Amino acid sequence: MIYLDNAATSWPKPETVYAAADKALRGQSGNPGRSGHKLSLAAGRVVEEARLWTARLFGVSAPERVVFTANATEALNLALHGLLAPGAHVITDALAHNSVARPLAALTGVEVSRAPGDPERGVDLDGLAALWRPNTALVVMTHISNVTGTENPVREIGALCRARGALFLVDAAQSAGVAPIDVEAMNIDLLAFPGHKGLLGPQGTGGLYVGAAARLRPLKQGGTGSFSESVQQPRRLPDRYESGTANTAGLAGLTAGIRYIMETGVARIRAREAELANRLLQGLADIPGVRLYGPPPGPSRAGVVSFTLAGYDAAEAAFILDDSFDIAVRAGLHCAPGAHAALGTLETGGTVRVSPGCFTTAAEIDRCLEAVAELTKH
Ligand code: ALA
Repeated sequence: MIYLDNAATSWPKPETVYAAADKALRGQSGNPGRSGHKLSLAAGRVVEEARLWTARLFGVSAPERVVFTANATEALNLALHGLLAPGAHVITDALAHNSVARPLAALTGVEVSRAPGDPERGVDLDGLAALWRPNTALVVMTHISNVTGTENPVREIGALCRARGALFLVDAAQSAGVAPIDVEAMNIDLLAFPGHKGLLGPQGTGGLYVGAAARLRPLKQGGTGSFSESVQQPRRLPDRYESGTANTAGLAGLTAGIRYIMETGVARIRAREAELANRLLQGLADIPGVRLYGPPPGPSRAGVVSFTLAGYDAAEAAFILDDSFDIAVRAGLHCAPGAHAALGTLETGGTVRVSPGCFTTAAEIDRCLEAVAELTKH
């Protein structure tokens, strides 16, 4: 099978990821940070090692500011529900995923503006600056769109937020492990990331970097293995936001994924994904009936490519690619209706999305192109 759905979850993982998760499940399987016996201490070390590697990857100088969650969605919910209160104004972008749009919609008394921009170039900085109000508390931006691969100018937006005194939350669902991220150099106050996509870890992992300026209410309360005499949630990080038993085996795999990325180099992974995306875009452009969406080919084109095919509903095309050609892609709205509204594909069933990963080969891209060309003949 040819797996081209890495924007949903990466597969396969490096062998070291499988081995680390297996080792943790078997031999480092106490409850981390709870009991004092060897198995518990071993599990605790697994969790703290994951924190250190995550901090190193994202340029975080205080590792306790990396809080582990079940996925990027939970991290975004922690940031948005934890920070915002009635009367606050938030600026977001049109490409936002439902994991940003839905928490914002659920918050009562919070005003939301969408920064202008276009699906090829991303957010327009002047247009974004013009939306600022005295009560603008937060800017939350998609780093790389999960529908089009469009990259927003996160570094410039971070500088703007710092100059104007709003906090900056970045949804790194598609960029963590693929694009260079340095939270301190990029003025990012909150970074939500999944562990199971570009970081190559297991599902059920992810996290939120919580910068010193961000004071969040916890999303949940419970046991932390610390300050147990008090019914108040601890103030200390990461305990404040990490109640309940951690996903130790998942985090062991996440460490292995991050180590693989750091040994390979984010820049090299990015260049490789751009090469595959460009090959795909150029090949698709030559197939009659294909309509492409998002940025054109380029040296740092993200590995997320969306298209529609004349005569086919997107879901039908994806079904045939899977059923007849053993090629896995994702079709539909990709949980990002705003992005599809911007593309004009919201009412027409969305797009077919092809997302290569760091183990995809050029031959697999060519096989996918042959399959799409084959579809157009029927
Ligand atoms: N948000 C993930 C995707 O785009 C699941 O497919």
